[in-house]
Amino acid sequence: MAMDKRRGFIDIHSHFLPFLDHGAENDQQCLAAARCYQSAGIDQVIATPHFLPGTKWAAAPEQISDTIRRTRNILREQGISITILAGMEIMLTDMLGGNFDLRPVLSLGGKGAYLVEFPLHSPYDASMVERLEHWQAARGVHFVIAHPERCAIFNDNSSRLDALVNTGMMVQVNIDSLLGQAGKKAQQAALAFFQAGIVHFLASDAHPRDGRMPPDSASMARLTRLLGRETTFQALRTNPMNLLDGKKVDPLRPDGNIHFSAQLHAMQGGYMQKLKNLFTHKQNLN
Ligand SMILES: [Fe+2]
Repeated sequence: MAMDKRRGFIDIHSHFLPFLDHGAENDQQCLAAARCYQSAGIDQVIATPHFLPGTKWAAAPEQISDTIRRTRNILREQGISITILAGMEIMLTDMLGGNFDLRPVLSLGGKGAYLVEFPLHSPYDASMVERLEHWQAARGVHFVIAHPERCAIFNDNSSRLDALVNTGMMVQVNIDSLLGQAGKKAQQAALAFFQAGIVHFLASDAHPRDGRMPPDSASMARLTRLLGRETTFQALRTNPMNLLDGKKVDPLRPDGNIHFSAQLHAMQGGYMQKLKNLFTHKQNLN
């Protein structure tokens, strides 16, 4: 029964297609990632190459479709059955002006929700947020904010993210951030977002070239212990399905050990801060 439920997970954010950005460097890396997907019970992947306006990472939709077709054939020859849908991860830069034409960019699975990435280290750009809100209202599109736990403007400030969720935006957290494989800061922020009830999806954001592979079965087991079985299913199946069906997506309500983990992290953070303060105080005395 448990194995049945694991089947059919969907990854909505992945750079496992070869040759389009800094995801998979070649077919072999793409295949290795596909085998991880298989072992994790993920059988649908929305491929989301970076879209950075004005750079070489701005593949045309046709180029992405061609790569998906070619990759499907390679996977089929290897006996790997994964459905690949097209999408993009759109970097929010000044190049996206107020009248930005959405036609060159792809929504997730073509269903009208765009995966957008805030720059990891830039200061908060109120005008960009206004533009997104305007596009939501005027064009009837939706936005999924990619890995805000890795962005400086959000990872110390969940209320800022909360404000965007209140306008109708959705939030995707990286699996490796939640599991602590992307540093303490990202993990703490991910836990805080979960506690605040403002996370809608988990995804791999796989970059095989950098060794960031999709989760394997061991990672999935850790994730299930942390979130609980139902929430893991909602994060990787129900919510992505609702997104692809154009239905309302509810935030995740963790039922596993995550609240305990978040408290533990907060306590550890406090303890480490006290130690740091003590050390700084001692240095000041010397
Ligand atoms: Fe990404």
